[in-house]
Amino acid sequence: MNRKDEHVTLALEQAEHTKQNDFDQIQLIHHSLGSIDVEQVDISTQIGSIPLEIPFFINAMTGGSEWTKDINAKLGYVAKQTGIAIATGSMSAALKDDSLWDSFTVVRDVNPNGLVFANINPNISVEDAQIAIQKVQGKALQIHLNAAQEIVMSEGDRSFSHWRSNIKAHLQSHKVDVIVKEVGMGMSGQTIKELIDLDVKIIDISGRGGTNFVSIENARKGNSQMNYMANWGQSSVQSLLEALPYLSQVDIIASGGIRNALDMVKSFVLGAKAIGISGVILQSVMNQGVEATIQMIENWQQDLIKIMALLGARTILDLRKVDVVLSLELQHYLKSREINKY
Ligand SMILES: Cc1cc2nc3c(=O)[nH]c(=O)nc-3n(C[C@H](O)[C@H](O)[C@H](O)COP(=O)(O)O)c2cc1C
Repeated sequence: MNRKDEHVTLALEQAEHTKQNDFDQIQLIHHSLGSIDVEQVDISTQIGSIPLEIPFFINAMTGGSEWTKDINAKLGYVAKQTGIAIATGSMSAALKDDSLWDSFTVVRDVNPNGLVFANINPNISVEDAQIAIQKVQGKALQIHLNAAQEIVMSEGDRSFSHWRSNIKAHLQSHKVDVIVKEVGMGMSGQTIKELIDLDVKIIDISGRGGTNFVSIENARKGNSQMNYMANWGQSSVQSLLEALPYLSQVDIIASGGIRNALDMVKSFVLGAKAIGISGVILQSVMNQGVEATIQMIENWQQDLIKIMALLGARTILDLRKVDVVLSLELQHYLKSREINKY
């Protein structure tokens, strides 16, 4: 089976999104006297120069085969019908094999006016990235950092030392916003600071707690067996805590293990400006179908508004003022990492 097809098949088998994760370690304090009305809530946000009417989007997943072309057509249609942004999967394969382009460009074809983000790995040249952006008329370029995934893959990359200089070159060259993202292993404060120093304005911390690429790679036949690495990295919540000192310098996207509107609200409370969701949407599209997925996304939008009203937050930024209690485990994390908040 093609590697892209294997990734989707194995991601569909993962039950991570039905399990507890670190978002369950956060309690938002309920105040009984409501202070605002549902109709006063505004969920719009902005990442870099990109305004988003709806603050969550379909994060990077797939493309690169006939089956994933079909999936991208479905995901693109869901994005169009709900008005949310969508990222393609890594377009690196199509940059090597022209016949694969239509499995990515279908996202744009079915959604001519929507917000689409192109996605590449950090080895791709500036010129090739420009082709990728142009192919889907991308409003942003996502560059994914997946060192842990490469390390557990038998055929994975083994050299990473050029990533910083390549990211710098991208930042100096593109007209569109650049988003640097993880793929589910989360980020440290040090990584976030280094990216800010490179002039990155939007970071997706994509942490542990949802789709697990170490497990996916280990489940692929013939791959090295490093399943003991399945808990590698920081959870999405830990990564958001790591990002707290840097919120005035960079826009943070939360992704990794987002299951519902409450996880989104908790991410905004911890400083995120937008949310990316992959696994839950993929599973819904493939198991429940396109129409049910559109309904789920519309429900999330309404749920987000309702929970914000309950918390007295008119805007996404107001959520940062919400009273929150972290579990002892998360408090221990904050203390060990010397992060002074909460
Ligand atoms: C099938 C599948 C393929 C993915 N491929 C990519 C990719 O090509 N590029 C990328 O940046 N992230 C990729 N991701 C990672 C997601 O964008 C996201 O960071 C990760 O899945 C965590 O979010 P989740 O828990 O909501 O799935 C993929 C995820 C899935 C489920």
